[in-house]
Amino acid sequence: VTFSSCGMKMSSRSGLRSIMDDIAATTAASADKWLNLSIGNPALIPEVEEMWREALHAELGDGFARSGCRYGPSRGAEPLVQAVVEYFRHRYGWALRSENIVIGPGSQMLCFAAGALFAGPSGSRHRPILIPTMPDYTGYQGMCMHRDGVAGVAPIIERSAGRGFRYRCDLDRVAEHGDAGMLLMSSPSNPAGRCASAEEMATLATIAADRGVPLVVDHAYGQPFPRIVDTPAPPLWHPNVINCFTISKAGLPGERLAFAIGEPEYIDAIVSFIANTALHASQIPQLAMANVLSSGRLDEVCENAIRPHYAAKRHFAETLLAEFLPAHLDWRLHASSGGMFCWIWVDDSSFDGAELYRAVKERHVFIVPGEHFFVPGHGFDEHAGQCFRISLSADEDSITAGVERVGLTLGEMHRAR
Ligand SMILES: Cc1ncc(COP(=O)(O)O)c(C=O)c1O
Repeated sequence: VTFSSCGMKMSSRSGLRSIMDDIAATTAASADKWLNLSIGNPALIPEVEEMWREALHAELGDGFARSGCRYGPSRGAEPLVQAVVEYFRHRYGWALRSENIVIGPGSQMLCFAAGALFAGPSGSRHRPILIPTMPDYTGYQGMCMHRDGVAGVAPIIERSAGRGFRYRCDLDRVAEHGDAGMLLMSSPSNPAGRCASAEEMATLATIAADRGVPLVVDHAYGQPFPRIVDTPAPPLWHPNVINCFTISKAGLPGERLAFAIGEPEYIDAIVSFIANTALHASQIPQLAMANVLSSGRLDEVCENAIRPHYAAKRHFAETLLAEFLPAHLDWRLHASSGGMFCWIWVDDSSFDGAELYRAVKERHVFIVPGEHFFVPGHGFDEHAGQCFRISLSADEDSITAGVERVGLTLGEMHRAR
């Protein structure tokens, strides 16, 4: 096969591709033997499943021929666009028009569209996507079709008493960074569960505005849904910010639905990108979402089922980590303000997260090695290799067995040094 230069980049085995392959392995017929602590699949929560089942079922009734049997608008189905306008007006006081909104088949696709539109080669300039605080979502690394299309800024590490640590955004370095076509971040972040404070977000928006580029903020785990987040700070409305929201982590990842809100000049370009690539997002999930958004049911389920579920899981996992990870190893857990993961750093130069990934796989456990969440070659490779991510979405028995096996493996790796 002769690949184009974009083809070479997009056909490469990214971190995301490995995670998707691990999902395939654990959902295949012989899946029973695998404990998957790597995936970003949301937990199966009965109230959430029931809400989506009922909402989708309702759309299979009389209106089906008008939705499922026809193409729809690339901006998104009108009832959902209007439901989003109303919801954000009521919840955050945002005065939106349809022109501020685009619905797409998942936030992966919406962020990819933004990356393709606003970053990359342009004339004689090369303007990468800039990730202000590594580590961040591994999926961002495939969002530019050009080599060296994604750049990242190393964080400042703050160790805290006991086994804690946290990353701080190095805003000076972000401001000093060379050309960038777009800034992109998740908050709460995948993997570390780090939330940008209101001040940090405002500074990043100012940096974006000074450069005349968008700051894309991916709220996959945050407000207003699935609301697996501790900070009350609402999303920021700013002319240079494109806020991206998805229902994947609120229980419907398989139906591929998300939306972005921003200034019409950005949003209109994304609508065209969707028209050119996917035509539009699936109609039936759009109508189901319009329904649960307008009725308040999504809010209710986030507050009463999703948030408490992950708070309890986090507490449970923290207890297990303290019990099973070797006490003599200097391992640290990132302070979490939300999200679905535990992010662990083994503060020891002889530790290799990729080796841990391979060794626990022998014990039929999947975790994600830290390297996937850092742009390589940006001065942080050693730290990247010392981290790994565990997902909180598996059931308690799987998390218990998985963490126990991770602890055993870490002990063996340490003894073998
Ligand atoms: C931060 C972040 N953004 C986006 C996605 C993908 O979301 P979607 O299913 O809406 O494409 C994920 C999935 O794990 C994620 O963690």
